[in-house]
Amino acid sequence: MNSPVMQGLNLNSPAFVKNANLIAWVADMAALCKPDSIHWCDGSEDEYDRLCGKLVEGGTFKKLDPVKRPNSYLACSDPSDVARVEDRTFICSEKKEDAGPTNNWMAPAEMRATLHPLFDGCMRGRTMYVVPFSMGPLGSPIAHIGIELSDSPYVAVNMKIMTRMGKAVCDVLGVNGEFVPCVHTVGAPLEAGQQDVKWPCNKTKYIVHYPETREIWSYGSGYGGNALLGKKCFALRIASNMGRDEGWLAEHMLILGVTNPQGKKYHVAAAFPSACGKTNFAMLVPPKGFDGWKVTTIGDDIAWIKPGTDGKLYAINPEAGYFGVAPGTNNETNPNCMASLDKNVIFTNVALTDDGDVWWEGMGPAPRHAIDWQGKDWTPEIAKETGAKAAHPNSRFTVAATNNPALDPAWDDAAGVPIDAFIFGGRRSTTVPLVTEGRNWVEGVYMASTMGSETTAAITGQVGVVRRDPFAMIAFCGYNMSDYFQHWLNLGKKIGATGATLPRIFTTNWFRKGEDGKFVWPGYGENMRVLKWMIDRIEGKATGTDHLFGVSPTYEEMNWTGLDFSAEKFASVTSIDKAAWQKELELHTELFEQLAYHLPQELSETKAKIELRLAG
Ligand code: GTP
Ligand code: SPV
Ligand code: MN
Repeated sequence: MNSPVMQGLNLNSPAFVKNANLIAWVADMAALCKPDSIHWCDGSEDEYDRLCGKLVEGGTFKKLDPVKRPNSYLACSDPSDVARVEDRTFICSEKKEDAGPTNNWMAPAEMRATLHPLFDGCMRGRTMYVVPFSMGPLGSPIAHIGIELSDSPYVAVNMKIMTRMGKAVCDVLGVNGEFVPCVHTVGAPLEAGQQDVKWPCNKTKYIVHYPETREIWSYGSGYGGNALLGKKCFALRIASNMGRDEGWLAEHMLILGVTNPQGKKYHVAAAFPSACGKTNFAMLVPPKGFDGWKVTTIGDDIAWIKPGTDGKLYAINPEAGYFGVAPGTNNETNPNCMASLDKNVIFTNVALTDDGDVWWEGMGPAPRHAIDWQGKDWTPEIAKETGAKAAHPNSRFTVAATNNPALDPAWDDAAGVPIDAFIFGGRRSTTVPLVTEGRNWVEGVYMASTMGSETTAAITGQVGVVRRDPFAMIAFCGYNMSDYFQHWLNLGKKIGATGATLPRIFTTNWFRKGEDGKFVWPGYGENMRVLKWMIDRIEGKATGTDHLFGVSPTYEEMNWTGLDFSAEKFASVTSIDKAAWQKELELHTELFEQLAYHLPQELSETKAKIELRLAG
């Protein structure tokens, strides 16, 4: 099947591709998908510019004003294709129990039989891009290589920013190297002479993972995590399977470095659900009262974490760019992010201003007129009248990590950074206090396992409903969630046995609301105050107060310099309402019933202890 010419289609693999398995697989996939041509991506700047030019020609991209936003583009998607589709995401393990109750499952053979006719001829009239990418620093022993085949040039240029992509990856892959095969199609073949649309996609969507054979097949969507397969599909769902088998962790976490005025540096990895503040926290600018403190970014979305020979946990960011939420980002909430967006950016689904720049809700003063993400006229008056958003709530920017002025010098270091603390933080308008530390590893794992969060626009479906989102991994754990909890517990035991100090585990909630419906905690840069308390805990300088499920700060031991935040307000974001927690524990019970198969006993025991304290 690996003849270089398939049905008149020349495979034309360039000299830098030396991997026979890769060439044979591309031939097979070309025979199935039947593209008009094949483009092997070399990852060069020149190629990026040419593809962007082609996207401009086809109407997918608008080039932004070269002075206001140099080398930047705006893409607006089909209104039906704006976020991840969790209800169309499948983990196709051989056994249903191995996908577990939190994942959609279909038997691999059945799924293959379902997908085969959909992929047959799916790329007709289009170019198939062969996108070699590395998750993690090129050639590093902890990096993994994937090859994405996609009929979307938008995907190819986004992958150039989000990953290490192109020829250099093939050099590392060599003749015999292994790769994770990732096939992506927008599912919109073109008949001869048929005019293309600006954002091709299909109303039928499948985001499919075969964990045992480490394969990804994605059909029908061109947006974000549905289509940029290195990100959620590979670096989380497939990698979590690799991590379970090999003793490491693939997590939905930002990684930051925080340096105190004396020059001592700590590293923190934090899991917040989608659109709950990872990018913001990773780029935090310390507020007034924190002179000499510095926060630097290692990653903003995904962490791969492995135990080192010294027993410590070391984290790398497998990505090379940020695919971040635009709305709410401004010079006050996230100045480092705004600076990152000065040039070389792909914006998706934000509004176009009359002077050829971009705008989104919460960016700053509204323009008097703009074209909204759906191509309609938008004015503040129209917005007031109809509630129309200029930018989609899940509109995003794609930008290279190297654009970030707060980028940590070790962000690209193959050795990773040693983690001192984990944070798990949901979006909860009630019930959950600002910050709590688990008294030990198991208590921390319990809080992470039972975390709840209000849904956001990052996924299709209803926004603002509380659901359990264990470890912020509900959508990303590629195997049975209870086995994943066990994996975390096992790792804690293993590290504990080496005598090494385990990272501390904290939970946070920046999102408690007052009776006026507004956030009480100022958030953003002010989250530094909480981060500082965590470091004080690590250094043994803060006692806190013990409560139902852990330790929270007293008002007095927080640094309030430069912020007017009364003890009353502090109480309203840290108070623990017994009745609310009784209800919360019922939700934990429901979760544990759902996850009963393989649920670690330590977690049930921890729950029983909390219930006892609640009753007392
Ligand atoms: P994904 O990329 O979807 O995984 O999300 P993320 O966790 O990186 O989310 P991001 O940092 O982009 O934040 C999403 C939204 O949360 C934005 O609208 C922010 O303005 C808002 N946000 C971030 N941090 C805070 C905070 O401390 N307080 C409040 N109230 N909102 C915040
Ligand atoms: C998320 O939804 O958690 C994201 C955006 O980081 S996407 O890449 O679309 O999954
Ligand atoms: Mn994410």
